Amino acid sequence: MKAIAQDRYGSPDVLELREVDKPVVADDTVLVRVHAAAVNARDWHLMRGDPYLARLVLGLSGPKTKIRGTDFAGRVEAVGRNVKRFRPGDEVFGEVDGAFAEYVCAQDNTVEPKPAGLSFEQAAAVPLAGNTALMGLRDLGRVQPGQRVLINGASGGVGTFAVQIAKAFGAEVTGVCSTRNMELTRSMGADHLIDYTQEDFTRNGRRYDVVFDLVGNHSLTECRRALTPTGRLVLSGGGVSEGGSLIGPMGLILKGQVMSRFVHHQLLVLTATPSKDNLAALRELAESGKLTPVIDRTYPLSEVPEAIRYLEVEHARSKVVITM
Ligand SMILES: NC(=O)c1ccc[n+]([C@@H]2O[C@H](COP(=O)([O-])OP(=O)(O)OC[C@H]3O[C@@H](n4cnc5c(N)ncnc54)[C@H](OP(=O)(O)O)[C@@H]3O)[C@@H](O)[C@H]2O)c1
Repeated sequence: MKAIAQDRYGSPDVLELREVDKPVVADDTVLVRVHAAAVNARDWHLMRGDPYLARLVLGLSGPKTKIRGTDFAGRVEAVGRNVKRFRPGDEVFGEVDGAFAEYVCAQDNTVEPKPAGLSFEQAAAVPLAGNTALMGLRDLGRVQPGQRVLINGASGGVGTFAVQIAKAFGAEVTGVCSTRNMELTRSMGADHLIDYTQEDFTRNGRRYDVVFDLVGNHSLTECRRALTPTGRLVLSGGGVSEGGSLIGPMGLILKGQVMSRFVHHQLLVLTATPSKDNLAALRELAESGKLTPVIDRTYPLSEVPEAIRYLEVEHARSKVVITM
């Protein structure tokens, strides 16, 4: 089968379209013919081996897992003997390492039936970014109806889901984005917009019950200024302003853990982990019309390097999707 693989860390130029062995289904896995995959910030972090500290786990001289990509949607081709939930032909979506490929073999517990009414491209856009938004707002932010929630980075892959999910939870939502993305963020349902080129949300005097930071361009002290006395700050680990490319988000995580011992605010660092229950919750939101994935651009499998370059350096908005 064809897949996008790499042997060494670096820019998108290290990615190659290759012929590789088709994966073989194991007892607890589902073999899926991929129809669409989505690009995430995770892909370029893994591609670059960034931060350097992560290479201790990912592989020192090059990635141990050579095929890139995480999110996929497609049709089940075969199931392992312990898998009872799926049959060949089922339409599914989920997360796996190596989604930029014609086939993936995913653990049963990271796959769910595809939301009815979504195309394969739309469904592929959901898993990682949607799960990040869901866990950030539901599990860490504990968003309640009527609360005021600010999403910093509202027009990005995670942000466009976060605005919609916060609205589905009954919150009053403020989206922070650039001038060109104001209309997009409004169309996701944001009640209020802040154009970050004109206004700094940490200095305008307004307070929020939950601030979900997907950018990392403000210090913890600055973000805390935008919180009510009992407010919760949810950090995605985005941005390198707190750690550089040696330790990346670890700097922010450590700083948040230390600072949260001395301040009354909850400073919470998110680590989104794949879960079929969360995929099911996202499917329900999509099927009830409360969550619509937005796709900025699509690229064929052979153009994954261009797709990653676009996401990494050209300020893509919403999701970038790979079609097979
Ligand atoms: N902790 C976890 O488990 C987890 C999981 C997934 C993702 N993440 C992290 O979450 C972050 C967001 O991911 P993503 O997929 O949404 O990235 P993305 O699609 O690249 O979106 C980033 C957004 O940030 C906006 N932005 C840039 N500068 C800004 C500023 N100064 N103020 C406000 N917005 C600004 C951009 O909008 P403009 O084009 O308008 O500038 C863009 O829409 C990434 O750093 C990613 O690594 C963490």
